[in-house]
Amino acid sequence: MLEVVDHPLIHAELTLLRDRHCPPQRFRSHVRRVASLMVPAVTANLETEPVPCETPLEVTSGVTPSRPIILAPILRAGIGFFDGFLDLLPEASTAHIGLARNEETLRPEPYYFKTPPELPKAEVIVLDPMLATGGSAAEAVTRLRAAGAVRLRFACLVAAPEGVDTLHRAHPDLPIFTAALDRCLNAKGYILPGLGDAGDRIFGT
Ligand code: PRP
Ligand code: URA
Repeated sequence: MLEVVDHPLIHAELTLLRDRHCPPQRFRSHVRRVASLMVPAVTANLETEPVPCETPLEVTSGVTPSRPIILAPILRAGIGFFDGFLDLLPEASTAHIGLARNEETLRPEPYYFKTPPELPKAEVIVLDPMLATGGSAAEAVTRLRAAGAVRLRFACLVAAPEGVDTLHRAHPDLPIFTAALDRCLNAKGYILPGLGDAGDRIFGT
């Protein structure tokens, strides 16, 4: 399943952050806002269960999420995208997945992996602003599944069709949400039109 989250405010924020002249401070704010704007779509089918709720006047019924939520940012750039999700899901815990794409082979190289103990029963939202070749996202989901995760979904800011295909082939049941589906990859594995290197633009490196 691929959902391109379509909203005029997302389009406007994306236009501002794609601009090569957008400095890191503003870039981070735009990424954070797009992430928050995506949360309702990414969580639309989360299961809830009924709970009693005592208002100042009487007892009524409400709902609470049936399972814990884990946000799983792929380091580094995933951290910038994570903030906007955490703003709307403040009780989520975090799984950190350190992967660095080798500039020559374009394969992800793992360097860190730490997950909360509730991973097997949680709804896990894997976060990375960029889905380019799809290698990093596929590797992150493989590692999370090996560690016990069962319910996963993936959210990104910008996806290339090549990355969507790779991720679908590696994990056919994984729902993918993106704010934009761009045209293609260039010879160096960068997304076109894209936004450049997300990690460098978030952290000013
Ligand atoms: C970027 C991006 C993704 C990956 C996407 O991270 O944030 O993790 O590349 O590329 P792929 O789909 O071809 O695997 P990078 O490895 O450059 O590390 P960074 O976040 O530390 O900048
Ligand atoms: N990683 C990025 O940060 N940007 C791209 O376009 C591709 C991979």
